[in-house]
Amino acid sequence: MKVLVTGASGNGGQAVCRELLQAGYEVRMADVMPPSAADLKELEFVRCDSRTVTDVQQAVKGVDGVIHLAAWHCAHNPPVSDDTIFAVNVDGTFQVLEACRREGIQSIVYASSMAYGWGSVYGVTKVIGEDLCRSYHEMTGASIAMLRYHEFIPRSYLEFGGKLLRNGVDRRDVARATVAALAAASKREFGLFRTIVHSNHGMSEEVRANFRSLGQAWCEERLPGASALIAKYDISLPGEVEQHDLTEAREVLGWTPQVGFIEFLRDLKQRDERGEDVRSLFVPSELPQV
Ligand SMILES: NC(=O)c1ccc[n+]([C@@H]2O[C@H](COP(=O)([O-])OP(=O)(O)OC[C@H]3O[C@@H](n4cnc5c(N)ncnc54)[C@H](O)[C@@H]3O)[C@@H](O)[C@H]2O)c1
Repeated sequence: MKVLVTGASGNGGQAVCRELLQAGYEVRMADVMPPSAADLKELEFVRCDSRTVTDVQQAVKGVDGVIHLAAWHCAHNPPVSDDTIFAVNVDGTFQVLEACRREGIQSIVYASSMAYGWGSVYGVTKVIGEDLCRSYHEMTGASIAMLRYHEFIPRSYLEFGGKLLRNGVDRRDVARATVAALAAASKREFGLFRTIVHSNHGMSEEVRANFRSLGQAWCEERLPGASALIAKYDISLPGEVEQHDLTEAREVLGWTPQVGFIEFLRDLKQRDERGEDVRSLFVPSELPQV
């Protein structure tokens, strides 16, 4: 099965392309700029601005499924204007879905966001994006998965760890959920499917809601020495942790997240014992071993 990935040169796109290759898919990358990663340079690449009809028509030609990631979000530095965010995320999504309709593509994954509906132009674009997906599913019968990813923006290793308790998710979990969604779409396991893509720490409601007071003991129980690590690396614990019920994602996609705060602490412990300078590490170049 050949899959087009739009926004393939981006942070999520690169991880998704690797995950697709590992799962045995043929991959076509599409982006306004080619990938910088050495291991992806040999893959088929088409230069494609998702707002341009002819670019998108060429990109979808001959593929069996599409993963649409191309978008700008609010975390870019220097920032991208709201006009550009709206044009790329809305017009671009319309052009991709319209090209899929013309090409008869029936398996589609759309990158939505936890920022869906929040007070920003970006949040609005994801509302419209999901609405477009719903309408195209109704018009074409295509199986479309809309994945509301939580945050996987590149950051320092220690910040990444703390972020896992504050709506952060490892981009490998994002990539695995995305490829699982494409596989399920191609088997027609759903018509229109939406799920949150988040880490799951498996906390009880009491611990989740009172993490600042109960969190250290909860971590220590799972990983002896956790409290000392949290103190040594000055990792601040949030008052509460957001958790979601991901049962439907497991049942429909066969996907569950693999990386949570304990996995991060386990990795940190090993690096600490080896005497690594973890303060200089960056994610995703260095990801926790799980
Ligand atoms: N990173 C996050 O924390 C996060 C969270 C929720 C949802 N998402 C969504 O996941 C998707 C991937 O995000 P990411 O973090 O990998 O983004 P990214 O910025 O790393 O990558 C986006 C890619 O899209 C490309 N692109 C921009 N404009 C384009 C256009 N007009 N045509 C074609 N390609 C274009 C860029 O060149 C870039 O390679 C996006 O849809 C984003 O909204 C990301």
